[in-house]
Amino acid sequence: MNTTAATSYRDAKAHYTSPKRRDPVKTMLEEVVTHRVLRDAVDLARRGPDEPLRVVDIGAGTGDGLALLTEPHGDLAPVTDDSRLAYLGVDLDPGMVETARSLHAGRPAEFEVADMRAELPAGDFDLYLSCGVPYSHLPHADTIDVLTGLMRRIVETRDSAVMIVDVLGRYSVEWTPRWPETRWAYNMSFFEGANETVHDQMSFYDRGSLDDALVQAAIGAGARLGAVTFTDRSVLVGRHTATRAFNQAIPPYRTLLNELARGTTDVAPAQLRFTPPAGEVPARVEAFFAAFAERWNGVLAAAELRSPEQAKRLAQALFACEQQSQQGLGVGHSLMATVVVERPAGG
Ligand SMILES: C[S@@+](CC[C@H](N)C(=O)[O-])C[C@H]1O[C@@H](n2cnc3c(N)ncnc32)[C@H](O)[C@@H]1O
Repeated sequence: MNTTAATSYRDAKAHYTSPKRRDPVKTMLEEVVTHRVLRDAVDLARRGPDEPLRVVDIGAGTGDGLALLTEPHGDLAPVTDDSRLAYLGVDLDPGMVETARSLHAGRPAEFEVADMRAELPAGDFDLYLSCGVPYSHLPHADTIDVLTGLMRRIVETRDSAVMIVDVLGRYSVEWTPRWPETRWAYNMSFFEGANETVHDQMSFYDRGSLDDALVQAAIGAGARLGAVTFTDRSVLVGRHTATRAFNQAIPPYRTLLNELARGTTDVAPAQLRFTPPAGEVPARVEAFFAAFAERWNGVLAAAELRSPEQAKRLAQALFACEQQSQQGLGVGHSLMATVVVERPAGG
């Protein structure tokens, strides 16, 4: 496994700590979707109401995973409170770790510099969390190696634990022209305050390839996979629908949705219409986009936009459409797999 640092998050601190990063799409849709995934994972992972939940956040960055676990989102209550949590965040980048430590000082949280390809975080954990697609930094084979190591640790030390594996979705409309490839040069040009954009080769997954990676890791580790669920996040509103860095042919959905959510009435619903993209895709992805277009465009057709309240209601209806339609196929900006990793009976 190549363990040289693949990514420079130089200048990324300004992005991760900027209030502008938490735009309406992030707070009203993305954080809510991730919160639900975390809540369901914690329900599977928690051993007892009085036991602290032990979490390791892999590729923790500045500690968003800690905030996702302990803060309310939309009308969802915090997944856990500080008194019942022991959190360890690990990240390759010393600057991110330093920022995380200062942002979360005084919390039941530790942050350590570690390369997930080279070393496993020490400790015994109920939940192996990831968010913000850290595994996509690795080539596919390296991710399988890392997952194998984590699963081996689980089956050697306990009966079961839960993992959330967060990766970039291969079939996002943000990058339709790149659908034939599964690893390509990705450009994080949405970073706030960066003097230069961060470039890295990133790996992309659909439901089948992420499922395969989990199965291969489980076989390598001698683990049994219990319940596995997949969730697409940001089907039309990923950050690159605002930059349009990889697909100029789509409307700037994220920008338009942010405007609507702020109550702007000069967005015409027709600007948000969705035409299913053409391309070589698995049949269920094609079927998903056809059904999604019908539902999304139906919401637009029914919309009236004469007041700020109506604009906000339309944004809410479109966010609801995203959440209710997703099937975990790898058609969003990110694809999250939640999996219960078990020691096989008699193992
Ligand atoms: C897009 S950021 C997400 C950070 C955070 N989880 C969040 O949701 O905001 C991806 C993170 O993965 C980290 N990362 C990349 N390769 C890694 C590796 N090999 N080991 C540990 N962390 C890594 C990066 O340093 C970066 O902080």
